[in-house]
Amino acid sequence: MLETSAVSVKNREIYHLGFILIVAFLMALFSVSIHLLDNLYWFFKDYAYFPLIEFLVNAIFLTLCGMMWLTYRRWQRAEEKKAELENMVDSISSEVLMVVDHQGCVVSCNASLKRIFGYPPAEMLRQKTDRLFRALPGSSADDPQGLQSITKGGFTVTMATGRCKDGHEIPLEIITGKLTTGGGAVLLLRDISERVAAEAQLRNSYQKLQKLLEETVNILAMAVEIRDPYTAGHQRRVATLACAIADELGLSIKRQDGLRLASIVHDVGKLYVPAEILSKPGTLTDTEFNLIKAHPQLGFDLLKEIDFPWPVAEMVLQHHERIDGSGYPQGLRGKDILLESRIMGVADVVEAMASHRPYRAAHGTGMALEEISKHRGERYDEEVVDACLRVFYERGFEFEKALEVEMMAGILEGR
Ligand SMILES: [Fe+2]
Repeated sequence: MLETSAVSVKNREIYHLGFILIVAFLMALFSVSIHLLDNLYWFFKDYAYFPLIEFLVNAIFLTLCGMMWLTYRRWQRAEEKKAELENMVDSISSEVLMVVDHQGCVVSCNASLKRIFGYPPAEMLRQKTDRLFRALPGSSADDPQGLQSITKGGFTVTMATGRCKDGHEIPLEIITGKLTTGGGAVLLLRDISERVAAEAQLRNSYQKLQKLLEETVNILAMAVEIRDPYTAGHQRRVATLACAIADELGLSIKRQDGLRLASIVHDVGKLYVPAEILSKPGTLTDTEFNLIKAHPQLGFDLLKEIDFPWPVAEMVLQHHERIDGSGYPQGLRGKDILLESRIMGVADVVEAMASHRPYRAAHGTGMALEEISKHRGERYDEEVVDACLRVFYERGFEFEKALEVEMMAGILEGR
């Protein structure tokens, strides 16, 4: 039962008694007046208007009684509705519903307060709500009462930490609505412990899944590198540079994670290419080159069955596409190529040219950057090339240093 109901019941009893007394008084007055009129009749029996006076007096009394009855019935119906509403509010067992005044003091609250916070409702009456909760920093209500947002009107959802009577804390969601009169507010306090726990569990599962995916991808990368040791580390170095470019371009951490995974396995399709072709010194024949050109498609076919949270297989498929349509396997142009693939394409070229190969010496980073600058806006995306140049010239990017930093971060994160 609402804590204010006890007061209402008392008031109701007083009103009933008052009504009965008033009706009894009117009835008594009526009978006395009838008696008086009877007596007065003998004095005014010759007075022509006496029957009219008698009629009017009777009519007034009867009208008053009728009005009293109607008022009583209306009041009774209002009381019944009020009681119905109170029962409805009390039936809300999962949330605390309370009314606070303009100073943030509790005016009334339902029985759930005892179940959720351990306080009997009577104990919180006329108490400040900051005994019960404090708004979380950064939530919509910065003041501990959550009243700042209430005064702005409308409903507001605030995240807060609740303090129970036994001292333990619970996460709360508070929905507040301003009352149209008196400057107070209605507060709905919802214990979201279960939701918070479920979210934490979901985050945990996501992290585990992420780790599993990374391990799967690492194994795939290792498989390529074992078979083609000359390009050992190429994919990891491409991943490091691609993520640095993505960061420079302002891509979210989540997108960078997808790009990193795709870069680490971008050449996985080379598992199908004979090792002697991969490491062949000198010019390749058309047949050999066509075999190598099939690796993005083969990589896509291998990865498309894995349910990554990012389009990893598509990123791998498009990493040799060029914005002028001169790339392969689909000859895609411009923005039809995924941004991640455009980044990966630039990082792939820079890393390949900067590194040593068994069939040629390293061209060096300077020449690699010259190559991408030369074909900026032609083969390679302008923004990606600019970001790559900034990464090297302004951030001082170095492959080995970046790999060391990444490795240390992995160790610290337990990867
Ligand atoms: Fe490739």
